[in-house]
Amino acid sequence: MKELKIESTLFIFDTIEELPKDVMSLMKKAFEARDKAYAPYSNFHVGAAILLENGEIITGNNQENASYPSGLCAERTAIYYAGSQYPEVKIVKMAISATSKNKPTSTPIPPCGACRQAIAEYEIKQKTPIEIYFMGESGHVAKSNSLTNLLPLVFDKYLL
Ligand code: THU
Repeated sequence: MKELKIESTLFIFDTIEELPKDVMSLMKKAFEARDKAYAPYSNFHVGAAILLENGEIITGNNQENASYPSGLCAERTAIYYAGSQYPEVKIVKMAISATSKNKPTSTPIPPCGACRQAIAEYEIKQKTPIEIYFMGESGHVAKSNSLTNLLPLVFDKYLL
């Protein structure tokens, strides 16, 4: 038996002010989307903003449903829209912000497993990494240079 260690690297910015200008404005778009989330059941509001290679910015937020599993996360709302409207355009960056009505969110809130798998699909499809920045309502911002850092041992089409 051998031990297999898997390493991931993240970069941490102290505040949104430390981000490069284009990322700061992308994160602000994520805030705007977050504030329009429809989340009456969890009171957990998430916004995502995607920068495409053609300069277009796509945003999305979580949409909940009385039948809980029918809702959708912000990241997938945004990335599926990007995939449906711009199937040939690469995704360069994604910014995510989450806030809760129940408690403060001042640490970076990472995308859930299902969203990581969805983002991975587009990264593998386009063959170039997607930078992902995520945060709570305030405080530190975490950056991953690629989705791979967030989802080691990804299940992808080459396994089929
Ligand atoms: N949510 C997201 O929008 N993105 C995530 O990555 C994690 C969770 C949403 C789903 C649900 O509406 C609420 O946050 C609580 O889970």
